[in-house]
Amino acid sequence: MKKVIAIDGPSGAGKSTVSRQVAKALGFQYLDTGALYRAVAYYFFKKFQNIDDFSLLTEHEIERELSNIKIYYENGRVFLSDEDVSELIRDPKVGAVTSELSAKKIIREFLLPLQRSFAEKMNLVAEGRDMTTVVFPDAWKKFYLDASPEERAHRRFEQLIQSGKKITFDEALRDVIERDKRDSSRKDAPLRISKDAFYIDTSRLTAQEVVSIILKKVAE
Ligand code: C5P
Repeated sequence: MKKVIAIDGPSGAGKSTVSRQVAKALGFQYLDTGALYRAVAYYFFKKFQNIDDFSLLTEHEIERELSNIKIYYENGRVFLSDEDVSELIRDPKVGAVTSELSAKKIIREFLLPLQRSFAEKMNLVAEGRDMTTVVFPDAWKKFYLDASPEERAHRRFEQLIQSGKKITFDEALRDVIERDKRDSSRKDAPLRISKDAFYIDTSRLTAQEVVSIILKKVAE
């Protein structure tokens, strides 16, 4: 296994921006594991358009589909078979399905070898929810990025407004709180802080400041 910098934290803590910049500064490959979960969810979202609650899909129903799912990821772009779904997976509806499906053990097991394979050939910055605890427990360096729910909702609100989505701040805050609850209460791979991860509260820091903290820590 090559060197892995594993970064975890809740949504809106600034993981993506920071991880991408850290990878660039060090010449490491960048892996956004949320994009892999979103790509799987997008497949189910498209295939089962009449379903309201994807958490009701059984393991058996999911298993039948998984062999059809071919995910390819490079340089922050994600492909489902040959289709570039990098933008499509960002739809909030796909986000909600992702959160439901990523709680399923069978889906987490399906993505485990794929995630680990990225560390075989190149040094890696991998970000997600269980990089430091499950996927890369022996990572070279581990970080946990956090921020207050209000700050994370604010960032999410700005991001969605900029991409033309209609949302109020209260809706963004509600989304953040609900997603936190789901991500931390699920029985398979709940979001938790690894004991050996370096904790950074990003609420009052710019992305550049967080990147500097990480680069300094990595150089120690
Ligand atoms: O990081 P992002 O918000 O794109 O992730 C979307 C969803 O995928 C998260 O809400 C979480 O439920 C799930 N996820 C996960 N494990 C990861 C990365 C993402 O369960 N390693």
